[in-house]
Amino acid sequence: MPEQESKVQTIEIRDLKVGMYVILPSGWFSHPFLKSQFRIESPREIQKFFESGIQEVQVDFSRSEIAENNSTPQAEFGQDEMKQPGAVKWEPEQIVPRELSEAILSDIPPSEKAKAIKESSILMMQRLLEEPSAANIKAAKQGIFETVDFIISDDKTSGYLANITHHDMYTYTHSVNVGILSILLAKRLYKGTGKHNMRELGAGFFLHDLGKVSVDISIINKQGKLTDEEWAIMKKHPEAGAALLAGANEISEESAVIVLQHHEREDGTGYPCGIKAGEIHPYARICSIADVFDALTAERSYKKKLKPIAALRLMRDEMLNHFQRDLFENFARIFVA
Ligand SMILES: [Fe+2]
Ligand SMILES: [Fe+2]
Repeated sequence: MPEQESKVQTIEIRDLKVGMYVILPSGWFSHPFLKSQFRIESPREIQKFFESGIQEVQVDFSRSEIAENNSTPQAEFGQDEMKQPGAVKWEPEQIVPRELSEAILSDIPPSEKAKAIKESSILMMQRLLEEPSAANIKAAKQGIFETVDFIISDDKTSGYLANITHHDMYTYTHSVNVGILSILLAKRLYKGTGKHNMRELGAGFFLHDLGKVSVDISIINKQGKLTDEEWAIMKKHPEAGAALLAGANEISEESAVIVLQHHEREDGTGYPCGIKAGEIHPYARICSIADVFDALTAERSYKKKLKPIAALRLMRDEMLNHFQRDLFENFARIFVA
C-alpha cells in the first residue's frame, strides 16, 4: 500500500465529524478516551469531547473517512433520544465497540474502568437501537455477555458501576443503567446458586426497552402528558420488544419474561396484562425496580432528577405496593455496600 501523506490540521471541537481521525495531545489521563489516536465512530464520541472541555484537536485528514451527508455534531445533540431506526446503518461487527473489550481487559483503576465500561455499553445500545436488525441483536448479546461476565466476577468495579450516572442520550443510557443495576441486584440474590443463567438475564435487562424502537419518536420525546391514544401505543412496547427478539431468534425464557413483564406491578396496576404479585416473574420484578429507579434519578429536559437516596425514599414511601418488598430492600442495599 502506498504511504499516505499526512494532512494534519487543528480544528475546533464544534467542527468535528464522525469519520475524522483525531490525534489527542497526551496520555489518556488528560482526556476521557482509552486511545490517543482513533477514528470517531459516533456522535456520542464527539459529545465526549464537549463534555471533557477539550477546545480543539488535531485531525489527520489522510486517515479520515467522512461521509458526504455527515451532519454537524450540533444537529445530532439537539435530540437526547434515539433516532428512528434506519437513520444510521450499523453492521453487526460494529455493534460492540472495541472500547468495551479494551475497558474490560485494561489494567486501569476500578473507578475509571467502571466509567469506560458504561460509556462503551451506552454506545453499543445506541448503535443497536438505531439499527435493531436480527444480526445486530445477536451481536449486541455477545457484548452484553462480556459485560455480565465481568460484573459477576469483579466485585471492585461493581461498586463503582452502581454509582456512576450519565444524564444524556436518555434511552441508551437508561438501557445500560437498568441493565447494570438489575444485574447487580440479580448478583446479590443469585450469585453462587448456579441456578440462573446470568448472561441471558443480562440480555433481558439491557434489552428490556428494545420495543421502544417501534414507538414513534414524537411520542417518546413528548414532554407533556401522553394522550390516551399515544399511551396505548406506548404500552405496546413490551410486546413489540418480545416480537423483535423472537424474530431475531434471540428470545430466551429469561429475556421473554423480562421484556414482557417489566411494567407489571405487584398490585396489578401495571401493563400490558395487569397481572399481580406471584404472577409476575421474579426476573421482571427485579427489572421493574431498576427501571423506576433510573427514571426517577435521570435528568430530562422537562424534569429534575432525584438523588439516589431521595429516589429510594420516594419508592419506599409512595410506590412500595408496586414492588416486591424483599427485592426492593435488597436493591436499596446495593447503594450502601
Ligand atoms: Fe419499558
Ligand atoms: Fe425502561
